[in-house]
Amino acid sequence: MEALLDPALATYCETHSEVPSPLLRELEQYTRAHFKDAEMLIGPVEGALLALLVRLLAVRRVLEIGLFTGYSALTMAEALPQDGVLVSCEIRPDTAAVAQRFFDRSPHGGKIHVRVAPALDTLEGLRDDAAFDLAFLDADKENYGPYYERLRTLVRPGGLIVADNTLWSGRVLSPRHPSDLAISAFNRRVHEDPGVECVLLPVRDGLTLIRRKP
Ligand SMILES: C[S@@+](CC[C@H](N)C(=O)[O-])C[C@H]1O[C@@H](n2cnc3c(N)ncnc32)[C@H](O)[C@@H]1O
Repeated sequence: MEALLDPALATYCETHSEVPSPLLRELEQYTRAHFKDAEMLIGPVEGALLALLVRLLAVRRVLEIGLFTGYSALTMAEALPQDGVLVSCEIRPDTAAVAQRFFDRSPHGGKIHVRVAPALDTLEGLRDDAAFDLAFLDADKENYGPYYERLRTLVRPGGLIVADNTLWSGRVLSPRHPSDLAISAFNRRVHEDPGVECVLLPVRDGLTLIRRKP
């Protein structure tokens, strides 16, 4: 992922945003030390934004697509109320195992339910009336289209879908590869969808907030 923001400004944003919990810091450091694709972590600024959204909207039920080592899941779980629930989809057992080890050390870890399987299968198995208040989409870009269609049913009217990497390192401007084309088609579909209102923000690699109209 190429940085869209000047690194000095990115650091400035980080040092002027909410400080992650010590366990989240440790999870980030562990991931950077052990996974070569650690740049997939959403990091402290996007994490602070997700936590703020969870609190602002009084979210109780979260659906996440793309757990990796659990940074975004733990960030949101820390912001959920005691009886909150977060279901997270991940295809890699190795990263899911790391995430679970950190969740087991957190007082908020019991809120998180990890499903290790292709996310489309997990989503298919969820009841249509699962009524999630917020969904965070951060997995394989080629499937953003099918994920979106399913999330439109699984997220309750008035609920929020947050989609990550929607600027895709700027490649949305001249899409060539399958993932570029998928993100570009996703952005068009969301923008033209009369059932939602949306804003595409230049946060990190692009973050789209999509509210399902009541
Ligand atoms: C960008 S990372 C998620 C980062 C995570 N949200 C965080 O903050 O650390 C994307 C994750 O989606 C997972 N993934 C890719 N394809 C998937 C699929 N078909 N089903 C479920 N998970 C998938 C990858 O294994 C990877 O761990």
